[in-house]
Parts: sequence; structure tokens; C-alpha cells
Amino acid sequence: MRILLTGGAGYIGSHTTLTLLEHGHEIVIVDDLVNSKPSVLDRLEALAATRIPLHVFDLRDEDRLDALFAQERLDAVMHCAGLKAVGDSVTRPLDYYRNHLDSTFSLLTAMARHGVSRLVFSSSATVYGENAPLPCQEDHRPLSATSPYGQTKVMIEQLLTDVAAATDGLKVALLRYFNPVGAHPTGQLGEDPQGTPNNLMPFIAQVAVGRLDRLRIFGADYPTKDGTGERDYIHVMDVATGHLRALEHLDAMPEPARAFNLGTGTATSVLQLLGAFERACGRRLSHEVVPRRPGDVPANLADPRRAHDELGWRAVHGIDRMCADTWRWQSQNPTGYPDR
Ligand code: NAD
Ligand code: WQD
Repeated sequence: MRILLTGGAGYIGSHTTLTLLEHGHEIVIVDDLVNSKPSVLDRLEALAATRIPLHVFDLRDEDRLDALFAQERLDAVMHCAGLKAVGDSVTRPLDYYRNHLDSTFSLLTAMARHGVSRLVFSSSATVYGENAPLPCQEDHRPLSATSPYGQTKVMIEQLLTDVAAATDGLKVALLRYFNPVGAHPTGQLGEDPQGTPNNLMPFIAQVAVGRLDRLRIFGADYPTKDGTGERDYIHVMDVATGHLRALEHLDAMPEPARAFNLGTGTATSVLQLLGAFERACGRRLSHEVVPRRPGDVPANLADPRRAHDELGWRAVHGIDRMCADTWRWQSQNPTGYPDR
């Protein structure tokens, strides 16, 4: 298939691009590079040994998007573009609502005009809110969120579900990622956060490479196995394979829109992840326990059975592999992607 991948220069989009190319699909990327660098494309093209068209513009530019759809004969869209800093979304909510909603309106309009009827959307476990029983199951209602970022995911899931129900032939997979971490096994692609990382794995990786002095563990008094927060970390290459399987499944999907958890079903604590990273990089990493981070839940965990049963997908990489690949990426690229 010829696929428009939005946000293809970003963390999830770049790894997904490579997996789709390896399986014989053709990729066209739209990314405005607001949170990524053009040198990602150099890496991708070298790994894939092919040229990958990158169109640098904001998806909200409906005229440019329409022209691109007119020029390319697209079979599907994967919508990974978006802003993703949860805390940032609390301080500038309008930017998040406008970016996420307007981008999706713009895409849906172009898809309708040009007869493209397959869509895979990057949703998030954040739509389960604070009170869903664990492990999270896709049928849980009501969906809710504790940040404007998460609220946009809830709204877009609803929007896509409504539009798919009303549009003959339109099929939408809503992929709810849990905590994507890890990097491409070559160390050539990885997560490259701008500024100080908010998320645990990139923070640990930057401590290991000497960019940050120590990890601050946000609370060791949670009702979890060792008192630190537990999450369902999933290797980004497994997330990429999840996109491939979802795409291949769309035509056979009985419902117009359906949600799938992308998680492992295994909970890992902050201390366990730190221990695994220490094994990967071969040394102890400085850390201290500090008070809980406001808004954090004690634990989160996916029930991944629907994706197993219906997509034939399962996560295959464990926590040691996630840390080893992250370390390879971080140690080979201590300051992230180069400027071109
Ligand atoms: P990322 O920031 O690395 O990639 C997103 C890309 O989208 C960036 O390259 C950015 O430049 C681009 N972009 C943003 N707004 C755009 C716009 N209006 N037009 C064109 N391009 C635009 O983020 P990521 O980690 O790759 O996340 C991808 C998607 O997955 C996002 O929708 C995010 O909300 C979702 N998600 C991510 C995680 C995670 O932990 N990484 C978890 C759950 C869901
Ligand atoms: C994991 C654990 C922290 C940093 C966030 C978003 C979520 C999703 C993924 C997109 C928690 C602890 C962290 C640190 C720490 N994104 N921690 N020290 O909070 O599960 O999810 O990213 O959809 O929406 O909320 O991930 O990596 O920030 O935290 O102790 O410096 O690590 O308290 O227990 P989180 P995280």
C-alpha cells in the first residue's frame, strides 16, 4: 500500500516508517518538524536504502494537504503527528486542542475528497483516565483524561468513531499505546526529546550518558511491588509492528472503528527499569527518591488480548531488550540526532 504517515520524522513515526518499508509498503511523510529534525530522514533513507518523500508542512494547511492527496495515490493514512508533552498541554491547552483537532479535521476532509478509507490513529492509554480497573480493557467506559493532551485523544477517538460510522467503507484503528520506549536495534533511530526529558526511560538514558546528574524517583510509597510507580513499557519496534498488523487487518474489521491496546501486559516498576538499565549500560546510576509527581497514578497496565486475538500481534521484546536498545541509541548519539 501507499501510505501517508503523518509525524513520520518523530519517534513512533520513524520506527513505523521503517517497519512498513521492510514489509513492502510505500511511505510518504508529512511532518512540520516542530518536534523533530530533518536528519531523521537521512538515517531512515540509509537504513531502508530507498528515498522517502518528506513534505514539511503543518497538517492544518488544508490546501497543501489537498494538493498532496491529489498528487499521490494513497491507500491509507497513519496519523502519528501531534504534540505529546502532557505537562506542556496544561500550560498551553489551546495549542494542543487546535493542533490535534484541526489536523484531524484536515486529514478527514482530504481523505473523504480523495476516497482514502483506511486510517490508523495514534491514541494513548491516557484515555483510560484515573479510575479504570487494571489491566485496562478497550471496552472500558467512560473514557476520560486528566490533561488537555489526553482530552484531545478522547475527543479524536470519538470523532473518528462517529465519522467512520457515517462513512461507507471507512475503517479506523485506534491504537492505544501504553509506554513506548526503546530504539531501533542499530542505534540509528531513537527518542530525541528536546530539553530535559519528562519521561522515565529517556531521563535514565541521559543520566547514563552523563547529560543529567541523577534520576529523581517520584515516590516510593505507592501500593506497588516495591513502592515505585508501575507501567507497561513497550518496545517501539513492537509498536511499529502493531501499526503494520492493524493496517493489514483494517479491511477485514467488522466495525468501522475499533480500539486496540498496544502493551505487553507486564508491569515494571521504576526501580526495576532502573535495574535493567544498569545491567544494559554496565554500571550503577545515581538516583534519589523525591516526593510523588502530581497527577501520577500508582500503576498502569494493558490487557493486550484483543490485539493478540484480532490482529495476530503481540509484543515480543522484554524490558532488558528495551534498555539495551535505548542504551545503544543514547551512547551512539549522546546529544540525539545531528543538525543537518
Ligand atoms: P514525536 O513528537 O516524536 O512525533 C510527532 C511528530 O509530529 C513530530 O515529528 C512533530 O514534528 C510532528 N507534528 C506535530 N504536529 C504536527 C502538525 N500539526 N503537522 C505536521 N506534523 C506535526 O512524538 P511520538 O512519541 O512519535 O508520538 C507520536 C504520536 O503517538 C502522538 O500522537 C502521540 O500523542 C502518540 N503517543 C505517544 C506516546 C509516547 O510515549 N511516545 C504514547 C502514547 C501516544
Ligand atoms: C513513568 C514512571 C513516574 C520520570 C506519560 C504520559 C502518557 C504517555 C506516556 C502519551 C512514573 C516515574 C518518571 C522521572 C520518575 N504519553 N518517573 N522519574 O507518566 O506513565 O506517561 O508518558 O500518551 O500520557 O502521561 O510515563 O515515563 O513520565 O513515567 O520516577 O524522572 O516513572 O512517576 O511512575 P507516564 P513517564
